[in-house]
Amino acid sequence: MRFMLNGAVKEVATHPAARLIDVLREECGLTGTKEGCGEGECGACTVLIDGEPVCSCIIPVAQVADAEVTTVEGLNGEHPLQKLFMDEVGAQCGICTPGMIMAALSLGPAPTLDEVRTALAGNLCRCTGYSAIYRAVMKWRGMTAGDTPGSAVVA
Ligand code: FES
Ligand code: FES
Repeated sequence: MRFMLNGAVKEVATHPAARLIDVLREECGLTGTKEGCGEGECGACTVLIDGEPVCSCIIPVAQVADAEVTTVEGLNGEHPLQKLFMDEVGAQCGICTPGMIMAALSLGPAPTLDEVRTALAGNLCRCTGYSAIYRAVMKWRGMTAGDTPGSAVVA
């Protein structure tokens, strides 16, 4: 089957019921997407499908046929939110970080703190605490006010 992966066409020969996270990590070699619970509860495995954050541990790869999948590697380490997570010390072990960042990309411009909390409500962090994460996201959206949701992926 075929889908768009980080802006390029990707073809994989795998069982349609294979989990998207396994295809990304094992077949595509993109290990930035992390597995936490494996049950759709922690958000560590969040990627964007057609711009919407989803848990890749509960998505069969068949569901992304002809869709556009964006993983943290698609940001090339150059997205301002990645730098802000470092500047604000929004990561310690880093397991939750790619999922947090991908989930935050769906936020619109200048969100309130409550909107940030809601956007990241499905993403659990066991070690950093949420204040630094929220601060990084708020600073990023302040910096890029005027973006539309989704355009931030390539900001
Ligand atoms: S690993 Fe997918 S939601 Fe926890
Ligand atoms: S930085 Fe360790 S779980 Fe969030």
